[in-house]
Amino acid sequence: MIAIYPGSFDPITLGHLDIIERGSRLFKQVIVAVLRNPNKTPLFTVEKRLEQISLSTQHLPNVRVDSFDGLTVKYAQIQQAQVLLRGLRAVSDFEIELQMAHTNNTLSTEIETVFLATSNEYSFLSSSVVKEIARFGGSVDHLVPPHIALDIYQCYNLKSLI
Ligand SMILES: Nc1ncnc2c1ncn2[C@@H]1O[C@H](COP(=O)(O)OP(=O)(O)O)[C@@H](O)[C@H]1O
Ligand SMILES: [Mg+2]
Repeated sequence: MIAIYPGSFDPITLGHLDIIERGSRLFKQVIVAVLRNPNKTPLFTVEKRLEQISLSTQHLPNVRVDSFDGLTVKYAQIQQAQVLLRGLRAVSDFEIELQMAHTNNTLSTEIETVFLATSNEYSFLSSSVVKEIARFGGSVDHLVPPHIALDIYQCYNLKSLI
């Protein structure tokens, strides 16, 4: 089965990577799909995020990286995927994720949403948390891959940490 793992990944974190690695053991192929969302002002361009994700997943041969816009379900159909992979951290994720899964189910009953529970150690982790820490000069070395930490420090001009 082919699974799509859609998201913003602005930037990708060790929490995302944990889901991707575990997903890659369950599915024949995992496509990490960066949503081109004109309503959000991201820290990194979609092209930069694609590059970051590719570097972070190069050890996983059945993981592919792509971007898309519009409906996730439509994108999944084009890719001939049967699964939307999503991560669940806490109850706060659950409500919105369940609503999204139900909505997508009304658009296509062929495509199933599969949730993976976050590994305990990453249950607090989000791209926003990473950006918040870095913005105030904290280290994010334990939260993202090394090359992404450098990208983030560069963005915030934290020369002391580079
Ligand atoms: N630390 C984490 N552990 C497990 N899943 C996560 C973690 N952080 C994010 N996710 C999941 O990864 C997916 C993409 O998240 P994100 O990049 O924030 O995009 P979105 O804009 O779709 O929320 C979502 O399913 C989210 O719940
Ligand atoms: Mg999110």
